[in-house]
Amino acid sequence: ALVEAAKKAAAARAVANHLLPSHRHVGIGSGSTVVHVVDAIAAQGPSFWGNMTFYPTGSQSKGLIRAVGLRLCHLDERPVVPETGRLVELDVAFDGADEVDDELNCIKGGGACLLQEKLVAVAAKKFVVVADYRKLSPRLCTKWKAIPIEVLPMAAPDVVDRLTALGALQPTVRPGTPGKAGEVVTDNGMWIIDAPFPPLLLDKELASAGITTGRDAGGNWGVSALADELLRIPGIVEVGLFYGLDGAQAATLGKSGLAQKP
Ligand code: A5P
Repeated sequence: ALVEAAKKAAAARAVANHLLPSHRHVGIGSGSTVVHVVDAIAAQGPSFWGNMTFYPTGSQSKGLIRAVGLRLCHLDERPVVPETGRLVELDVAFDGADEVDDELNCIKGGGACLLQEKLVAVAAKKFVVVADYRKLSPRLCTKWKAIPIEVLPMAAPDVVDRLTALGALQPTVRPGTPGKAGEVVTDNGMWIIDAPFPPLLLDKELASAGITTGRDAGGNWGVSALADELLRIPGIVEVGLFYGLDGAQAATLGKSGLAQKP
């Protein structure tokens, strides 16, 4: 109940602080915290959200948007801005996270939705992480031990092999229904590999130690170096490490209140 209340409070603060009446295009992420975000938006009434369009990050997210009567649009169907000839940017995207570090880097994909979540996040001018106090941690892979990685099923054995070579400790394909054979299949027909790594160093920690190779002498990876390295592996479609997102803002409710990047 305490955790649920914290999620709800974080969602209410996130919507109050980051969703403006002037906004038109809004990303809606996945997971149990985002349910409270959608509820908080819906509670504002049609005079607030009637001119807004909402972009989901998967089938759960789509269902949430539909259920409360908000206007739904898929990311690949959004309009082009006539003046620039470019796809319209989302004003803001709200999403949960499995773990968040001091620089607002996130582990995502606990619910297997990371690819579409990343697409929506990078399409938005502002990315708002909505998370309860349990998710904050000084370094990623401390509380949430493994990085979810979305892979082409036929590439899974090779990817596991390469992840092991990079220092992952027993990466495994995420199983489907407990007690049944088979794997989790994502909204995109892919599998998820959960890859445990030792806690990830913040980029500022590497920089202050003068390390330019992305790894310290003990082989511990920095966040962005590891994400970049993983994305070079053929068969990996996307990695559940979100970092360096423009305008990343946290609405994380800690015991002492709201932690937020200015
Ligand atoms: C979905 O794959 C994830 O990235 C979610 O955003 C994340 O797991 C947060 O979910 P909860 O809000 O349920 O913790």
